Amino acid sequence: MPLDLKQLVASRFGENYDLHERHLNRTLVSVQRTIGFDKVYANACGAYLFDRDGSPILDFLSGYSVFNIGRNHPAVKRAISDALEMDLPNMVQMDCSLLSGLLAEALIQRLPSHLDAVFFCNSGTEAMEGAIKFARAATGRKGLISLDGAFHGLSMGSLSLMGCEQFREGFAPYLPDCHRVALGDLEALKTVLARGDIAALIIEPVQGKGVHFPADDFFNQAQNLCRKHGALLICDEVQTGLGRTGKWFGFEHWQLEPDIVTLAKSLSGGYVPCGAIVTRREIYQATFSSLQRCVVHSSTFGRNNLAMACGLATLQAIDEEGLVENADRMGRILLEKVNALKTKHSVIKEARGKGLIIAIEFQQPSEFGAKLGWAFLHTIERELFSQMIATTLLSRHQVLTQVAAHGMDAIKILPPLMIGETEIDLFVTALDAVLDQCRSFPGPVWDLGANIVRHSLRGGI
Ligand SMILES: Cc1ncc(COP(=O)(O)O)c(C=O)c1O
Repeated sequence: MPLDLKQLVASRFGENYDLHERHLNRTLVSVQRTIGFDKVYANACGAYLFDRDGSPILDFLSGYSVFNIGRNHPAVKRAISDALEMDLPNMVQMDCSLLSGLLAEALIQRLPSHLDAVFFCNSGTEAMEGAIKFARAATGRKGLISLDGAFHGLSMGSLSLMGCEQFREGFAPYLPDCHRVALGDLEALKTVLARGDIAALIIEPVQGKGVHFPADDFFNQAQNLCRKHGALLICDEVQTGLGRTGKWFGFEHWQLEPDIVTLAKSLSGGYVPCGAIVTRREIYQATFSSLQRCVVHSSTFGRNNLAMACGLATLQAIDEEGLVENADRMGRILLEKVNALKTKHSVIKEARGKGLIIAIEFQQPSEFGAKLGWAFLHTIERELFSQMIATTLLSRHQVLTQVAAHGMDAIKILPPLMIGETEIDLFVTALDAVLDQCRSFPGPVWDLGANIVRHSLRGGI
């Protein structure tokens, strides 16, 4: 008898966390329970998740930027069912599939003309691993430069570029010849590039951890320096690409001309893993440099038909629904409305971002009650305050967000790009209410904070 998936899900619904505790990452389960993120979601549509009773939860996390076009988009569903219905010859491997050719063509049409060759893979970190190999093959050099605070993925090559120490601990040794400089430090960059052995500088146009980006022309100067010293510029657009920042690609904010661009996350509309490396033809050919080397870099599932079909539907949906422009417009409105709360809530330091990748950073408040609570949590751990805000937003106001990075007083929001002002107002009203509640110390919001502390001190987190 074939699997009856609907029956299986209905009969086991709600066992989620117990199953994960038994068979998967029980440490993550423990954290989710402690911070009150152990909800069971039943289904999802657009910018909303729904629990079993059909109550909506506003999704301002969008699967870490996987759902730029919103969850369960009908155009992508349709592309998947069409692809299945056609019984396409998937992954023959010793052929050239039509759909991967079409998706490559569609991607290139949206990128500057010098980026004309595509390699498909399955994830962001895999795209970064490939980009490192392409850069080394093209330059004949081994050195790599990344920025402090960078996050490029968690496989060993990406981890060697990592600018957030907490992800590295316990996994050494990393790739040799990897250097890190601070965002904005041109002198340090010059010094490292002057070694003459640098293959590439790798940047995120907007850093995902903490939502940092230069206010000036640092990236342009960095690009000039790379050119002068024969190094390539790799733009990791895994999170910032495909409209997230209010432009098709984050590098457009600085009119950069990257040599290599990496993509993943929302490329397949949130259904099937899909990543891509887009580069100049001569860089590509330096890797696949002879007939013997035609598969020297490859991945079994890399061009699979379902991912390619989803990618085609996603790019078309982004265009047809004007999502790049919407991200820009909604991002500006959101920033304006959150920054306007500063006059009421001294705890808001700033809201910053580009398009719909936004951090809301907090500072010690001046209001008496909130100041006491802030001091209490900060004697224990810095990010507890922002976790308490994210927890309260979810538990009391049904809004899903995340802390912006380890050790930061900030939350990060990554809404789907199709939100409207209704969703912005829901979020801003919820944030305003949570910050109002923070003025009562002790009080229910701080009790949540204290609860997180108690669990973490007991080793729960
Ligand atoms: C900028 C950036 N690069 C790379 C990655 C790694 O992507 P993946 O998790 O698909 O390996 C991420 C993931 O969050 C990312 O934000």
